[in-house]
Amino acid sequence: MELPFSESYRIKMVETIRKSTLEERQKWIKDAKYNLFLLKSEQVFIDLLTDSGTGAMSDKQWSEMMLGDESYAGASSYYKMKEAIFNITGFDRFLPTHQGRAAENVLFSVLVKEGNLVPGNSHFDTTKGHIEFRKAFAVDCTIEEAFDTSCTHPFKGNVDPEKLEDVLKKSADKVPFIIVTLTNNSAGGQPVSMENLRMVRQIADRYRKIVIFDAARFAENAYFIKLREEKYKGVPIRTIVLEMFSYADVMTMSSKKDAIVNIGGFIGMRDEELFRQCSVFNIMFEGYLTYGGLAGRDMNAIAQGLYEGTDFEYLDTRVKQVEYLGNRLMKFGIPVQQPIGGHAVFVDAKRFLPDLKKEEFQAQTLAIQIYLEAGVRGVEIGALMADRDPVTRENRFPKLEFLRLAIPRRVYTNNHMDVVAIALKNVFDRRKEVTRGMKIIREASIMRHFTVELDLA
Ligand code: F0G
Repeated sequence: MELPFSESYRIKMVETIRKSTLEERQKWIKDAKYNLFLLKSEQVFIDLLTDSGTGAMSDKQWSEMMLGDESYAGASSYYKMKEAIFNITGFDRFLPTHQGRAAENVLFSVLVKEGNLVPGNSHFDTTKGHIEFRKAFAVDCTIEEAFDTSCTHPFKGNVDPEKLEDVLKKSADKVPFIIVTLTNNSAGGQPVSMENLRMVRQIADRYRKIVIFDAARFAENAYFIKLREEKYKGVPIRTIVLEMFSYADVMTMSSKKDAIVNIGGFIGMRDEELFRQCSVFNIMFEGYLTYGGLAGRDMNAIAQGLYEGTDFEYLDTRVKQVEYLGNRLMKFGIPVQQPIGGHAVFVDAKRFLPDLKKEEFQAQTLAIQIYLEAGVRGVEIGALMADRDPVTRENRFPKLEFLRLAIPRRVYTNNHMDVVAIALKNVFDRRKEVTRGMKIIREASIMRHFTVELDLA
């Protein structure tokens, strides 16, 4: 018999998590203004809010923490991180930052000006936030297939070349760069093919534009290229990663994802002049050039995590666990973004709760329901996260309205996945009873989903 799939690691340290009663959860979620970000973590049993900074570090990463060099300038930990970034991505210049959005803040302070247009594939909310905060506009050029959750295109994260060309033909002078998010988080953790990255590079070259990769989940992207792009079947992950980054001029990284650490980020680049300009803002916002908001121990853990995060066996375990949950949900007939993404299962809330009005925030309503059912915390990737239009101040209703169940790396077992699957099935079975959605009581002007206060509509 063929041996079954199993994890490529074993567990050396555990953390207790606790179940709660429905009555407790009803009180807690009301007290939290129906915003799952406002819950205390001990009020959650299985926490799938995010895969960001929630992973379990390895014994080797913890050992590296002890070896951190905490010198203000020129720490050996900085050089360790620099070497790992060069080995894995090929970028020979880098600036450490405290996380991904800090890298965006530093880089966009140099590159984004008022009135600019920034085309890309479904910009992540912090990316969009940093663009719109500078009175510029994010233009989504993701392929149309991404917006049909039942379509099984293997690279739903792809940039549509026609949409991209259209922006450049009309307003090339307003475009400071093209940004490609790997994997495409907002569209469902969907990968971008190597062919597509090459095509973006060619278009960018024709218009002499910089290409930036928002590379938070670059390793998961490389795994999908290996599995789904014929030419790359026999190619090692690290070789694929190097080719991917050869098509970019700059990368921003949230190390909290594919470098499997609890905090950290960086900007990788080649151009000396850009490095100099970014350095000014890095010192101002983040810290001196050789630590940028991180402790030496954090940089050591990132360096080690970059190697572990690009190991095939690790990636295989990781992505297959996400797929396991997705397949269980699909067997129950629950509508999810297909194929299953790299870091999360994205439940199609419009199809799950078709009778609920979009003005009543279907995905948020669903997120509250699965929390009430079993203490499982997911996150809304829909109209709340989409914010209001910066000009008209009207609510924006994106084409996709998702409940995202993001799986932390190396943290939960498939028994936990079974609990999540059954919890959602129970909600699915009683979905006709979910007739009331949510309304906003209070919201921030940008990135409102983190702090929004809600009540039953
Ligand atoms: N880019 C992408 C694609 C992301 O998913 C995130 C964070 C960031 C940039 C920002 O990085 O959090 O380190 O500042 N995503 C998390 C999530 C928060 O839950 O998807 P950060």
